[in-house]
Amino acid sequence: MAQYDLVVRGGRVATASDVFDADIGINDGKISALGKGLDAGTEEIDAGGLLITPGGVDSHCHVEQISGSGIWTADDWFTATRSAACGGTTTIMPFACQHKGDSLRAVVQDYHDRAGPKAAVDYAFHLIVSDPTPQAIGQDLPALIKDGYTSFKIYLTYDALMLSDEQVLDVFAVARRDGAMVMVHAENNDMIKWMAQRLIQAGLTAPKFHATSRPMLVEREATHRTIALAELVDVPVLVVHVSGAEAIDQIRWAQSRGLKVYAETCPQYLFLTADDMDKPGLEGAKHMCSPPPRDKANQEIVWNALAEGVFEVFSSDHAPYRYDDPDGKMKHGPNAHFKQIANGVPGLEVRMPLLYSEGVRKNRISLTDFVALTATNAAKLYGLYPRKGTIAIGSDADLAIWDENKQVTITQSIMHDAMDYTPYEGVEITGWPVITLLRGSPVWRDGEFTGREGGGMFHRCDTPPALNAPTRFPTGFDPISGKYAP
Ligand code: URP
Ligand code: ZN
Ligand code: ZN
Repeated sequence: MAQYDLVVRGGRVATASDVFDADIGINDGKISALGKGLDAGTEEIDAGGLLITPGGVDSHCHVEQISGSGIWTADDWFTATRSAACGGTTTIMPFACQHKGDSLRAVVQDYHDRAGPKAAVDYAFHLIVSDPTPQAIGQDLPALIKDGYTSFKIYLTYDALMLSDEQVLDVFAVARRDGAMVMVHAENNDMIKWMAQRLIQAGLTAPKFHATSRPMLVEREATHRTIALAELVDVPVLVVHVSGAEAIDQIRWAQSRGLKVYAETCPQYLFLTADDMDKPGLEGAKHMCSPPPRDKANQEIVWNALAEGVFEVFSSDHAPYRYDDPDGKMKHGPNAHFKQIANGVPGLEVRMPLLYSEGVRKNRISLTDFVALTATNAAKLYGLYPRKGTIAIGSDADLAIWDENKQVTITQSIMHDAMDYTPYEGVEITGWPVITLLRGSPVWRDGEFTGREGGGMFHRCDTPPALNAPTRFPTGFDPISGKYAP
């Protein structure tokens, strides 16, 4: 009788710390052996000449979520997870989003009802907290953290979602006390509103003015404020979708002072620029996201920061709003001004190939850093490690098996999401996963989605390890316990 359900034989295995040649033995969906010359499996995959990385963990994507302006993402749980699988991602972490007035628990239950029957890869939930009422802060959040929802995103912009600084502190205090990671969307809301109003009054309404209304200093100020607020409570935080130099400077400054400030960037800040929004008509809307893409010089600065370890996570911020669709970016018609256009770009499927092709192949980042940025660090930061994010005995057999020489020209017709465009149309890639395994079963093989609607599994998250660090309150006053020890 064969010793393994499946053996992936003869590949080059990359983890966040090592690159080595090994066969991978898989039983019951988990990795049960790593080594050369493993016994036969009931099934075998010949990975000779191929690279094997952990399946990606995309820890920032918006799926079946309604925006503040009432637009649903085009992707549902099936199309999003199908698209993820076809680009080598095996775990996604979208947001169970509380809008003002919503009960957090009801939001989580609703999101489970949506995800369970449709998800084709594994998943965990972050929460979005937009209404930190006494019930939410005092009862629901602590209970949800205990139940395995150990991270939440908060916003410093968007009228419908944003928190005041005082509310941010309330949320930070719960995260510190009960053990959760807070992700912060750091842009200054009043500056954006003030600028947008004046731009629109001046008739400057085209998509490119989206970037003018949100210059980098808007992000710099909110990043600095996030860091200061987090320092007061001594809570680890993660600044999401960092776009360029000025926010990076703030994050480097915080990290150099020993603060537990983590950061994430996304493909749009490496591959798009603000000029992409300067196209005829509303065409530029295809590249509109927040913060906006910057310029070539900032792309280089983001690449350097990735290489130097400023960023922990490379996620897609997949926010799929179709372009030519009254339920998408065209909701307000072809003459809409930039404030009426949904923010966000898709990226679940191309996230890993883009970074592999431009980052690893062009020697901007190492292969081990690639694995850390696309899988391992997110699993660690959000309490999924070592079930997810690595290739180790006992871990889920989630693998991306790459043909490092495969040439692909990105075009929407080969994507597996529900979008009508990709902002990366025409980008040439070298290296793409040819097989994606989810808990030992192929969900993408030889150019075909081979997964199953509903085949994904929900995972509860542990307390993120960063939250286990001892506290060090800058004032000597612990605002959580009420103790004063100067
Ligand atoms: O423009 C973006 N990033 N839209 C998605 C929502 C968010 O803030 O991440
Ligand atoms: Zn955001
Ligand atoms: Zn987002």
